[in-house]
Amino acid sequence: MSFWSKKSRIVITCAKGVSPFLKQEILSSGFPVLSDGKAEVETEGTMEDTLRLNVLTRTGQRVLFLLESFNAKTPDDLYKRISRIPWEDFIPEDSYFSVTSSVHNPTINDSRFANVKCKDAVVDRIKEKRGRRPDTGPERDRVVIHLYWRSNLCQVFVDTSGEPLSRRGYRMIPLKAPMQETLAAAIILATGWMGNGNCVNPMCGSGTLAIEAALIALGRAPGLLRSNYGFMHLKGFDEPLWKALRRKIRAEAKDKLNGRIIATDISQQAIEAAKKNAMTAGVERFIEFGVCDFSETPVPNGGGVVVLNPEYGERMGEIEKLKENYKGIGDFFKKKCNGYTGYVFTGNLDLAKKVGLRTKRRILFYNGPIECRLLEYDLYEGSMKR
Ligand SMILES: C[S@@+](CC[C@H](N)C(=O)[O-])C[C@H]1O[C@@H](n2cnc3c(N)ncnc32)[C@H](O)[C@@H]1O
Repeated sequence: MSFWSKKSRIVITCAKGVSPFLKQEILSSGFPVLSDGKAEVETEGTMEDTLRLNVLTRTGQRVLFLLESFNAKTPDDLYKRISRIPWEDFIPEDSYFSVTSSVHNPTINDSRFANVKCKDAVVDRIKEKRGRRPDTGPERDRVVIHLYWRSNLCQVFVDTSGEPLSRRGYRMIPLKAPMQETLAAAIILATGWMGNGNCVNPMCGSGTLAIEAALIALGRAPGLLRSNYGFMHLKGFDEPLWKALRRKIRAEAKDKLNGRIIATDISQQAIEAAKKNAMTAGVERFIEFGVCDFSETPVPNGGGVVVLNPEYGERMGEIEKLKENYKGIGDFFKKKCNGYTGYVFTGNLDLAKKVGLRTKRRILFYNGPIECRLLEYDLYEGSMKR
């Protein structure tokens, strides 16, 4: 049996705090959930299943397919066990691979050493079998092997994603403090907005939240935007099957929205970048963009969600200036957003207090190393209390 049709464990990693949403996504794609942690969810399936998981997941970062699991105490144990894996069955002739790792083992001070041991084991095995060594390096755009080593437990995975899935490929214009695409998708999923009502996104910056919202409401798989994945570089990759899967998933998407998506920012440059990003993502005609102060953002009748990701500053001077913005968000919610559910995503809870409204839910997320909250406010008449 080819390793493409063999069942194994599949670990999908995500940013800390995102796993409840990833778990839901995996279940609704028809896969079981075997376990979940803060930054990963475990499922099972074949290598062929990883194609679907890569295309469908909005909140996952890497889809890791387990090749081998064993006990290893020292780097030499690791080398021996990894060189027993039939790499010549997975890695094609004339190919290139890289190794990434997550290592907590008492015999290893520097995880790069474990990477080198793993890489040497693979290279030596292939050289012995083929008489030629494969190329290796840090680039993650071809075959990627991932090593997980905790105490004595060692797991060797193929990273079927290659580049992290947050790199959807639509954000071409760099702006200040953009949010990762996978985090933006998790935030929209956390609001429960799926195209029911309107989605209003003042302070949209490079447009990540609005673009992810459009992809969600249209049922468009984010992975269709990308043309390169780790699995494509493995021996036995079935291109016709991949193309057929993409066609099928593309055909399932909608081409119409029920509600409106409105994205504004005070910066003309941000809106230009957001429009270009939306165009690359193929959703520009579903988002109404505008340049204005957040308080001037049009909020249509009919309700829905209003989501803001204001700056949360790092230096004291910046934080002082931002207080007015947060207070203004509270006023905007009260004056213009009646009938909506409001959301503020921030890494500074003291600033968030300036919004001055009672929060209904506080959902913990991490933006890189920064602990953040998505704060939910009920903006119905009578529910808004200082
Ligand atoms: C943290 S960034 C948002 C990043 C965004 N989530 C993304 O993924 O690119 C905050 C944005 O708020 C905008 N902004 C700041 N003050 C504003 C105001 N008074 N009215 C509207 N937008 C404002 C900034 O121009 C910036 O683009």
